[in-house]
Amino acid sequence: MTNEFKEDSYYIEQINRLRKERNAVILAHNYQRGEVQDIADFVGDSLGLSRQAASTDAELIIFCGVRFMAETAAILSPEKMVLLPDIQAGCPMADMITAEQLREAKLKYPAATVICYVNSSAEVKAESDICCTSTNAIAAVKSVNGRQILFVPDEHLGRYVASKTEADIIFWPGYCPTHYRVLPEDILKAKERYPQAKVIVHPECRLEVIMLADEALSTGGIIKYVSESAADEIILGTELGMAYRLQKDYPHKRVHLATEKLICPNMKLITLDKVASALEKLQPRVTVPENIRIKARQSLDRMLAI
Ligand code: 13P
Ligand code: SF4
Repeated sequence: MTNEFKEDSYYIEQINRLRKERNAVILAHNYQRGEVQDIADFVGDSLGLSRQAASTDAELIIFCGVRFMAETAAILSPEKMVLLPDIQAGCPMADMITAEQLREAKLKYPAATVICYVNSSAEVKAESDICCTSTNAIAAVKSVNGRQILFVPDEHLGRYVASKTEADIIFWPGYCPTHYRVLPEDILKAKERYPQAKVIVHPECRLEVIMLADEALSTGGIIKYVSESAADEIILGTELGMAYRLQKDYPHKRVHLATEKLICPNMKLITLDKVASALEKLQPRVTVPENIRIKARQSLDRMLAI
């Protein structure tokens, strides 16, 4: 038995005791560390986690993900306490637009409908008309019936959606630093090495990368694809945690990460000891001021209605 295993089992025992005492639900994104995914009540993509947060009976939500996800839970479930085990776990893309910058852009494009990717702050959601995740971005764009769209903050997701819908979209120059690192040559090399494999990437990748893939899907979409597809070998163009999830659920399939650069350091900040500590100390807590929450909720509700 290694030391690491002993340490994990110590925290797992603490987590299991405290989650009952506190009536807590532990939600984890698909990019979380394997050991964090393993203790979660629900592991999923941004949309699935939002739905869980909105419908849970638990009094306490431990959000193993990044800040905008915990904020979304706090917006949808204001009566619950939402904890983010490491308050430094942010999303750099979400920080690439502020509410002030968005207000200025809205003055410049007064006729545009603002669609914000869920990877954004509560203040930016409050300034937007509709929110979307990578699962429903195309549907959100189609729902505005041909009106001009200001799509923030992910330029790459915006360009992907535009390529699928021919919508009139004004892009914002935001990007995910993790998915941006994937280059077309990484995909070409992986395809050369594993010629039988299907290439599945996240739509946060550059469009040149997406064009080389068989599918561009949200993390939830990737799981669905792998579960339904006959393909037993996958080249994965998204974060490392997704490979853990797929190998756990489908051990007979071979999953190759397109490049070892695909690690989101922010997602990896959440560790078992921090989850145990959050449950014990009931912090760090994520809250959203009520005036922002009410407005942000409207853009999220429009998304959940799609
Ligand atoms: P999903 O909604 O596909 O899980 O993506 C969230 C995310 O942050 C991807 O980088
Ligand atoms: Fe943000 Fe990218 Fe990390 Fe997702 S993978 S949380 S978009 S930095």
